Amino acid sequence: MDMNARRDQWLLAIAGAADAAALAELDTRLFGSKGEVLDLVRTVTTLPKEERPVFGKAANAVKQEVEAALAARREQFAQRAMQKDLDTSDFDPTEPGPKRPRGALHPITIVQNELVDLFTSLGFQWQDGPEVESEYFNFDALNIPSDHPARESQDTFWLAEHAGLGKNLLRTHTSPVQVRTLQRALRAGFNPPLKVIVPGRCFRSETVDKSHEHTFYQMEGLVVDRVHGEHGISTANLIHTMKTCLRVILERDVQVRLRPGFFPFVEPGFELDVNCPFCKGQGCSVCKQSGWIEVLPCGMVHPNVLRQGGLDPEEYTGFAFGMGLQRVVMLRYGIDDIRQFMGGDLRFLAQFPEVSR
Ligand code: DAH
Repeated sequence: MDMNARRDQWLLAIAGAADAAALAELDTRLFGSKGEVLDLVRTVTTLPKEERPVFGKAANAVKQEVEAALAARREQFAQRAMQKDLDTSDFDPTEPGPKRPRGALHPITIVQNELVDLFTSLGFQWQDGPEVESEYFNFDALNIPSDHPARESQDTFWLAEHAGLGKNLLRTHTSPVQVRTLQRALRAGFNPPLKVIVPGRCFRSETVDKSHEHTFYQMEGLVVDRVHGEHGISTANLIHTMKTCLRVILERDVQVRLRPGFFPFVEPGFELDVNCPFCKGQGCSVCKQSGWIEVLPCGMVHPNVLRQGGLDPEEYTGFAFGMGLQRVVMLRYGIDDIRQFMGGDLRFLAQFPEVSR
């Protein structure tokens, strides 16, 4: 039979295939190892040499045409099958898909972001420090020698000692970054005023309860400037900065009061209290009927700390503060159990606004 007649037969067979199964059978008949179409192409080898190019070209064209027809018919069956599925099922492709669960920012992150925004707008720079810290920066450089009773108030996770590396620990507060920052600033050619904040994670070997966590967040602040000259840092600057900060974070006008507080790295040192947001200063269970809540230890940088940072305390003064972030977050949202923060309970975490800025 002539090549074109055979092609027409094949195309007819394809068009006449009743369903996908019939088409698959036809596919084998035409293109399987002993398939008719492939046979046709192969006959080229039996021909005299001079006839081969013309025949080969024509045979290949037929092969391609039949292949394309098969593919088109296959697609037709697939479409039909899909349409049938759509017609007989409840599936509605125009309906929106199921809602995917979305993550949210952790409340500590939300408040930390706001604080960072606020302080950077006041000209502070963000500093980082290591969570694995040396005994020197965590204690000695902060005027807390090894026999100092203040060390005992910070139950420390000490790390195994390695020869030549000195004693290391998980930092018990963000204050070690004070001297790190001063030393780094000095190496870079000190250019006062220096204003930094240090948000970060701290660790203490505490028994966990409603108000204690072994892992917690602080935000350290440090401001240092020349004594003489325009800016000279005083307690008034400290109070003003702290008041601004609390007003923004607690989203209301605040009153503060200072009480003396003892921290070896500040002199004088203070405990800064804010009027209780829950009872507006009237006295309630949260503020233990006092009307005040302790939020912020702070003070004027101790001369020994400035010396460790390489500065002359006759020439420079500064203030520092160490805000407990959880504490502030608890005040802001009225949370009464610190364990919620690390508890991983999604019902707790999902309550906070997704994006805070
Ligand atoms: N680092 C102290 C602590 O965690 C808190 C502190 C107190 C930080 C006074 C300061 C400060 O910068 O001036 O107990």
